[in-house]
Amino acid sequence: MAACEIVDLIGNTPLLDLTDLVEPGSARLYAKCEFMNPGLSLKDRIALHILDTAEARGQLTKGDTIVCASSGNTGCSFAMLGRIRGYRVTIVVPESCSREKQTHIKSLGAKVIVADKDKYMDCGRDYARENNFFDVDQYNNACNPDAYYETLGPEIWRDTDGQVTHFVTTGSTFGCISGVGRFLKGQNPEVYITLAEPECSRIYEYYYGKAVKKQGSKQSIKKASAIEGSGKSAPTQCLDLSIIDEVRKVSDWDAVAMCHSVVRAKGLLVGGSSGLNLFAAKQVADNLSKESMVVTILCDSGVKYLSKLYNSNFLAQYDLPSL
Ligand SMILES: Cc1ncc(COP(=O)(O)O)c(C=O)c1O
Repeated sequence: MAACEIVDLIGNTPLLDLTDLVEPGSARLYAKCEFMNPGLSLKDRIALHILDTAEARGQLTKGDTIVCASSGNTGCSFAMLGRIRGYRVTIVVPESCSREKQTHIKSLGAKVIVADKDKYMDCGRDYARENNFFDVDQYNNACNPDAYYETLGPEIWRDTDGQVTHFVTTGSTFGCISGVGRFLKGQNPEVYITLAEPECSRIYEYYYGKAVKKQGSKQSIKKASAIEGSGKSAPTQCLDLSIIDEVRKVSDWDAVAMCHSVVRAKGLLVGGSSGLNLFAAKQVADNLSKESMVVTILCDSGVKYLSKLYNSNFLAQYDLPSL
C-alpha cells in the first residue's frame, strides 16, 4: 500500500534543470521546487520541525494556541498543520502580505492580525506573551535552520550526487541559507554560498561592515519591497554569517522581470523571491564554466501573488516591468 499522510508530502521536492536559462557553455543551473510542498512554500519544512520539537518537549497540547509573526508563508504552513494536529493558530502579518496569502491562512481556519511592516515581529511576540500562547519566533528559533540542515541540505547533496559547487538563495529569517549552507559546507567546505537580497534589505551593509547599528533603535528597512519574504533591516539570530561567501543585491525590477521570463520560457508561475533567486543564480552561473553546478530555490508559488506580480495595475503602480 503506497498511501501517505499530508505531512509526508512535505520535503523531497523535485530538482528542476534550468540550465537553458544560462549562457551556453557556462555552469549548470538547478532549482529545488519548494512550491510543491502542500503549503506551497519552503516554510512547511520549518513549521513541521518546530511543531514536532515543541510537542516532544511537552510545550504544546491539543487545543493550545500557536502565534506566529510571518510575512505569510510560515503562517500558511502553521495554519495547515494546526488544522491537522488540533491547534488554534494566530498569524501576525505585515500590511504588505498579499491578499492571497492572508486568504490562504484564513481559509485554513487561522486568525490573521495585520500589523505595521516594521512592527509585526514585535507585535507577534507581545501578543503571544500577553496571552501565554506558544510563540513560534521563527526569526530566532534554532529549529528553523536545523530543519533545512536536516532536510533541504541533504536533499540538494543527494539530488546533485554531491556535485553542487554553488548555492544561491535569498533570506528573511535566514534559516534556509544558514541551514543549507552549514550542511553543504560540512560535506564540501568549497561549496560557495551566495545570499541574494532585495534593494530594501541591509544585510549587504552588515556583511561588508558598512552598517552602523544605532544603540537602542532598529533601523527601518529602507523602503517596502515588492518581493515578499525577502530581506531584513538587521541580522536575525538564525543568520549564520560565517557560512556566507558573498552577498549580491538584486533590484525588484530584475526579480519581477525574471518571474515573467520564467512564465514565458517555462510556463511556470513562481513567487517574487524565486525570481530574485533565479536572477542572482543566473548571474553566478553565467560567470562559471560548465564544470560548476549552481543550485537555487523556487521558494513559493506565484499563485500567492496573482494580485501583485501578475497584475498589470499593481506592476504599473510600483514601476515594475509589465507582464
Ligand atoms: C517567499 C519566501 N521566499 C524566501 C523566504 C526566505 O526564507 P528564510 O526565512 O529561510 O530566510 C521566505 C521567508 O519568509 C519566503 O516567504
